[in-house]
Amino acid sequence: MQMLSKQVVGYIEKSSWIRKMFEIGIELKAQHGEDAVCDFSLGNPDLAPPPAVGKALANVAQSADKPFAFGYMPNPGYPFARKALAGHLSKEQGVDIGSDDVVITCGAAGALNAIMRAVLDHGDEVLSPAPYFVEYGFYTQNHGGVFTSVPAKPLTFELDLEAMAAAINPKTRIVLINSPNNPSGAVYTEDELKGLAAILKAKTEEYGRPIYLVADEPYRFLVFDGIEVPSILPLYDYAIAVSSFSKNLSLAGERVGYAVVAPQMPGKGQLLGGLILANRILGFVNAPAIGQKIMAEALGSQVNVTVYAERRKAMTEVLDAAGYNFSMPKGAFYFFPEAPGGDDVAFVAALQEELILAVPGTGFGCPGYFRLAFCVGEEVIRRSAAGFKKAYRKLA
Ligand SMILES: Cc1ncc(COP(=O)(O)O)c(C=O)c1O
Repeated sequence: MQMLSKQVVGYIEKSSWIRKMFEIGIELKAQHGEDAVCDFSLGNPDLAPPPAVGKALANVAQSADKPFAFGYMPNPGYPFARKALAGHLSKEQGVDIGSDDVVITCGAAGALNAIMRAVLDHGDEVLSPAPYFVEYGFYTQNHGGVFTSVPAKPLTFELDLEAMAAAINPKTRIVLINSPNNPSGAVYTEDELKGLAAILKAKTEEYGRPIYLVADEPYRFLVFDGIEVPSILPLYDYAIAVSSFSKNLSLAGERVGYAVVAPQMPGKGQLLGGLILANRILGFVNAPAIGQKIMAEALGSQVNVTVYAERRKAMTEVLDAAGYNFSMPKGAFYFFPEAPGGDDVAFVAALQEELILAVPGTGFGCPGYFRLAFCVGEEVIRRSAAGFKKAYRKLA
């Protein structure tokens, strides 16, 4: 009996590399013990939420006996939460954002799906630089779109603007970027973003239909060495920024995020109407009530990022000592080194023999590299040093 759609059968058969690593991790931990395995495969923030989250939750509990405390609400979110978020984003993005420019969503994932549902016609293309967050392809196909990618520049993962311009065509509806980038740790400069905006402006005029620039920014808060993440909103009229509180408040399970449209966007009311409708009809209805209340009160707080800076330093020492070739991540909690020997899948298998779990770059549309998530304790990073050396010597 055919229980599933052919598409979903295909997805399950080709199950994601991250999922595969998760399953291999469970096996290795059962065989060798939890502490023997160094697991760098999951981008799951392991830091406790900041104290503001607990306080906000206590306040939610205090008002839990009121009617409608957790009832239905307007689909784009509680008005007070949108207002607080718009004020916060005006400072963060350096442009004047009104409550009506913001839709609160079920995480960044919910925001991306709402945008795609609202703007993609069947066969429209979503273009991303590779490496990219692997779910982008699934989200695009959810809405009848076609996901395409062009490689970023080798090793530095800067945008290859010429290649992107060449890939844009009348079917291109969304250019989807992610900075700080998962998996490469790249942060795009203002010059790169201005260059991209200029290309999109020209193509939008040529085709007579907006090409949206969507910036997925859940790691905006996590940058190193004093780097800043430029805002795309003032740079391009058809820009939409997307983010969530999954990483900065360690609230990933509570599913709160947002989409914010460039306040100067021509016809933005129509787009926002579409996003609000999409949020509802995708079955999200609205983002979780409790999460929105926590978010509104905890805005501006974040997890202790100095911990990530220390881990990044420790990981750098381990990789340098073994001889790996990599660009220093400017943001997010990932390293994306070259795979010694060139075959990322073979190299990740060699790491597994040393009880180290990583994800091949192939899983992010970028073979030849592998991803290490450093949301693990520093002791795990230090413990992995000998294994990284051995695997390197085996395949380099
Ligand atoms: C680049 C990127 N975008 C989006 C998401 C989805 O995050 P959420 O829906 O929890 O906000 C993730 C999660 O890891 C991510 O790494």
